[in-house]
Amino acid sequence: MISRINELREKFSKELSSVEDAKTLEDLRLSFLSKKGHVSALMQELSKVPNDQKKELGQMINSFKNEVSSKFEEKLEEIKKLEEERLINSCESYDESLPEDVAKGSYHPITLISRELESIFESMGFDVEDYSEVVDDYHCFEALNIPPFHPARDMQDTYYLSTPNQLLKSHTSAAQNAIMYKYGKLLKENGRPIRAVFPGRCFRNEAIDACHENTFFQMEGVMIDKNISISNLIYFMKTMLSEVFERDVKVRLRPGFFPFVEPGFELDISCLICNGTGCPSCKNSGWLELCPCGMIHPNVLKAGGINTEENPYEYTGFAFGLGLTRLAMMKYGVKDIRTFNEGDLNALSQFVEK
Ligand code: FA5
Repeated sequence: MISRINELREKFSKELSSVEDAKTLEDLRLSFLSKKGHVSALMQELSKVPNDQKKELGQMINSFKNEVSSKFEEKLEEIKKLEEERLINSCESYDESLPEDVAKGSYHPITLISRELESIFESMGFDVEDYSEVVDDYHCFEALNIPPFHPARDMQDTYYLSTPNQLLKSHTSAAQNAIMYKYGKLLKENGRPIRAVFPGRCFRNEAIDACHENTFFQMEGVMIDKNISISNLIYFMKTMLSEVFERDVKVRLRPGFFPFVEPGFELDISCLICNGTGCPSCKNSGWLELCPCGMIHPNVLKAGGINTEENPYEYTGFAFGLGLTRLAMMKYGVKDIRTFNEGDLNALSQFVEK
């Protein structure tokens, strides 16, 4: 029996030295330590040896069993390190300074609502576009029928950069001109209507309160074709809101002035935080300004290369500038807009993707 134990010890050492992965190691462990393994077989043989040798041989088998277990543990650690190294080497980049156990994150509520709206508009044939946060004066104002020094510029207290002519986008309307140039050719040559939405971060020097931030999101939308009318605008606004809220919400349309639309409207939503009775989130009015909109001004269509001087009404279109952050407040019942920018993970982690 002693020679049998030594044989098995040698076999184990030999096989262990050639093991390179966790699966082969586990197979080796089972072949020695499982119920049907070599150590169990030795124990069974022990019952057949004379009584006076049992104690000594039993101790030898036990110490062999402990030896196998501890060598197995050592090898397992070695293999884990090897496998980790292999994984690190196969990664494109690896940051050793990152903590091991980081809590799993979730999407920011603005990302969630933006994606939801994008897919609603995509299902209605709209393209989703992206636009930079630093823009020039022409795109943010002049192309939108707001010449330099025009009093309408005061509607948005804008952050100008030290680089001449550059500013932080104060509204997503700043992308309208670029969209018209991007899709105008397809409209005129192939008759493909321009239908695009472009979500984006906007910046204004605001007096911050429960419904005003200096950094907030809007989603702009435009549709341009022949014979586009206010009815088309109202249809798309209603469809979008009923899809987002999955129920009927009270809205009101009232005249609104924006130099880049004519006629222009303010679309307000009955405050869903207080059910229209008045609260700080809606400045006690019961209504929240959500989505100004209107028919695109002829000067804007001309600046976008859509219509010509000779034929200024060939194409018509509507535009809207949805307050995405305010929509998120209403959808998720967030009373204070500042919650979205504070980075409080307890508050933000409540919102998970459906
Ligand atoms: C505009 O920004 C226009 N560009 C919208 C537009 C587009 C009109 C196309 C017509 C045609 P206004 O400044 O009202 O308009 O902002 C639009 C929406 O953005 C507001 O109704 C509101 O929901 C949101 N918003 C504006 N300022 C803030 C702010 N400081 N904090 C949070 N949301 C804001």
